[in-house]
Amino acid sequence: MTDHAAALIAAAKPFWDAEAEITRRFFAGPPSRDDYIHYLRSAVYKELNPVIGYGPTDGFANGLHMEFCEIVERFRGLDGEVDRRDMLGALRMMTEEFEHYVVLAEVLEFVLGRKLAPGDAKQLPEDVKLNEMRRGYVESDDPCLVAAMGLTEGGGASTFREASKLSGGPLEEKLAAAMKIIHDDEKDHYEDAAADAAKAVRTDDDLARMKRAIREVSIQRVRMRNEQFRFQMSEDEVEGLITANP
Ligand SMILES: [Fe+2]
Ligand SMILES: [Fe+2]
Repeated sequence: MTDHAAALIAAAKPFWDAEAEITRRFFAGPPSRDDYIHYLRSAVYKELNPVIGYGPTDGFANGLHMEFCEIVERFRGLDGEVDRRDMLGALRMMTEEFEHYVVLAEVLEFVLGRKLAPGDAKQLPEDVKLNEMRRGYVESDDPCLVAAMGLTEGGGASTFREASKLSGGPLEEKLAAAMKIIHDDEKDHYEDAAADAAKAVRTDDDLARMKRAIREVSIQRVRMRNEQFRFQMSEDEVEGLITANP
């Protein structure tokens, strides 16, 4: 790993660790049925809308639908301006995200004791803020900041890692199995994203700008995670974490 890649990961790492801590506390609770439903509704939503900083999805069922439509349209450019390996990569990535949706939706159905209906997947307010913040960077026309956003997906997979360790009852086992699938897919993404982002660094200022953006988004990720998991960290604790990692 290059120094730049390591520096970008280091900017996010304390916040990824906080996401892991929030996750551990939630499951140690133990969570009530209602807590599980609260978390899983938003988790299912996030898998259906997996693109970093996605725009409005009007006219589509969700972000994944929008993304697949865009990928399918690329057939028109095959053997022309469309790189078939890029397209294959995009199809694979979105198929993985679709599988993440499937496995979490199945756990949510198990908890609810009924089939899901449209609208069961629900976005929480801190996730709205997170997406808007990322969109600002994705649309910034600054290649460094765009590349940096790759490092803000998944929070180092720390929630998936923690939840994949659950055991005990049938619900814990089901959720752990789902989370293991997601964790296996996501666990190496941050290193790849860091390597890609490091290639965009030309100057010290580039690196500093990218670290600032990663830090800001990572803080908002902690807030998103905290809301998903019923505020396991107090506001004082979150503020303390921010101050401790300038
Ligand atoms: Fe993902
Ligand atoms: Fe995913």
